[in-house]
Amino acid sequence: KRVAIFISGGGSNMVKLLESMVGDHPARACVVLSNDPQAKGLEHAEARGVPTEVVRHHPFGKDRAAFEHAISGAIAPYAPDLICLAGFMRKLTAEFVDPWRGKMLNIHPSLLPKYKGLHTHARALEAGDTVHGCTVHEVTPALDDGPILGQARVPVLPDDTEETLAARVLTQEHLLYPQVLARFASGDRRPVLLS
Ligand code: GRF
Repeated sequence: KRVAIFISGGGSNMVKLLESMVGDHPARACVVLSNDPQAKGLEHAEARGVPTEVVRHHPFGKDRAAFEHAISGAIAPYAPDLICLAGFMRKLTAEFVDPWRGKMLNIHPSLLPKYKGLHTHARALEAGDTVHGCTVHEVTPALDDGPILGQARVPVLPDDTEETLAARVLTQEHLLYPQVLARFASGDRRPVLLS
């Protein structure tokens, strides 16, 4: 399986995915795409010999369809079978998502269906949750809403700040996403549940 990974920033999840796709793993990264040319993850991908593409969203303004056509055009030469969104911070419309149904994954820093959208750690702290975590799901047109493929749980500690909680969740993301991708790429749909 050929995997395109979409990032917007540091790409720590992308790095873990790249490092996992070795040996008898059924997938290999074919391209890393970012909407931000400054994304540090681009350097990490290049350092690992993975081709990179940048499609900035600014020039397209509110024309999401044109931005998404540019993305499709940029990844087409690499012929990906799967797309992994990893810290990709742009919403994708149904026009882009529909053809990728069942072939596009995303990692979200909450225990979906709780806390779709942004600021998930602050919201969990605000709610006084004692358990939080991250989810890998299939991408559907609705934001952070598709079939759940894996979850990892972390405790929320009394003296947690948004930063300490985010760091604890990110550590689990780095464990969860590679395990889900390995299963998904081999056709195994059993959810990965880490605690
Ligand atoms: C992190 O907040 C992570 O929870 C979410 O995207 C953000 C950046 O991740 N998935 P990364 O370091 O760019 O992979």
